Amino acid sequence: MQPPLAFDVGPVRVDPACVLAPMEGITDRPFRSLIRGLGGCGLTVTEFVSSEALTRQVAKAWKMAEIAPDERPVSIQIYGRDPERMADSARYCQDLGADIVDLNLGCPSKAVTGGCAGSALMRDEPLARRIFTAVRAAITVPMTVKMRLGWDRECMNAPEVAHIAQEEGAGMITVHGRTRADAYRGVADWRSIRAVRDRIHLPLLVNGDILTVDDAVRALDESGADGVMVGRGTMRDPWILRQIADHFAGRPVCTPTLEERRVVILHYFDMLASSSPIDPDRYALGKMKKVTGYFTRGLPYGARLRESVYAATTTRAACEAVTHYFELLAAHDLRDGFSRVFADPAQPFREGDSRRLDRPETVSP
Ligand SMILES: Cc1cc2nc3c(=O)[nH]c(=O)nc-3n(C[C@H](O)[C@H](O)[C@H](O)COP(=O)(O)O)c2cc1C
Repeated sequence: MQPPLAFDVGPVRVDPACVLAPMEGITDRPFRSLIRGLGGCGLTVTEFVSSEALTRQVAKAWKMAEIAPDERPVSIQIYGRDPERMADSARYCQDLGADIVDLNLGCPSKAVTGGCAGSALMRDEPLARRIFTAVRAAITVPMTVKMRLGWDRECMNAPEVAHIAQEEGAGMITVHGRTRADAYRGVADWRSIRAVRDRIHLPLLVNGDILTVDDAVRALDESGADGVMVGRGTMRDPWILRQIADHFAGRPVCTPTLEERRVVILHYFDMLASSSPIDPDRYALGKMKKVTGYFTRGLPYGARLRESVYAATTTRAACEAVTHYFELLAAHDLRDGFSRVFADPAQPFREGDSRRLDRPETVSP
């Protein structure tokens, strides 16, 4: 029997401690609603929002920080390098209804680190501390920090940065088991996260390359963390958090049927179309094409589905392509195609296998 996976971040109960990772361009309101609706998700985090853009009143940034009234608990993630702007942004996020404000010290993209934000802050501990202090003083809701192991293998200072965050009043730390120099290469190093565990007493989330329940068990065991954060795994299998939660609650692990998968993907496409600010056939269709690429890597006939969704010129045509895809799977008796891809230990994704998680292609964090 596994111990329950849950903890408190100040007044916020994270139960189960299975958290949807922030992913720019992916974890918008419809995606967060999709994952939450499947169960097993104890906390959602928005895409990262620029503190520069928030404080300069850029409409797109404010839109990214929007949360649904029933999305609880939810964290809004911000990034930046200016303590004052970070503090002001954190206050805005609190006013928007965030239960938690998360600070990004993980983004490896040059656009962000060039301005000494994201993972570049790990190289400037005094500045990171000033940001923590300023944000902590600006809000009453918990402040949390998401980071990488360090800048590179020579500078794996996550334990120190996490300790600084703890001293400055952070309520939870998440560590992606890669350095900035690793970008998305190689395999997440969960074992090195244990040094963070040994340095802080705050709730700790392990993140990186968690795709299956077994991965979650191993990641927790190797890192000593209190919970898991899953990003790309939720695009490959939206039920992954639910399955991890089931396992740790001692329940039978849910195995969605082909029909359930079809309904959920179509429901998500529908949410995308209806949440589209302007022309759904432009905005939502672009998003559908993007997520279909993620949703279908390694799946039987996934390439065929991608081709037909990419060729679609309307959201309706994209939905029809999904419907045809599932008919194809059923016709070829590939009902369990998904579970085979995700659960078969003979098909490991962690050792350079083609079913490994894709690196973000167009998005940099
Ligand atoms: C498309 C994409 C966008 C991302 N955007 C963010 C972001 O906005 N903020 C952040 O802290 N991390 C971001 N990340 C990093 C993820 O939160 C996570 O740390 C990383 O993908 C490793 O976890 P995973 O293997 O479960 O995906 C992003 C990752 C991807 C793939």
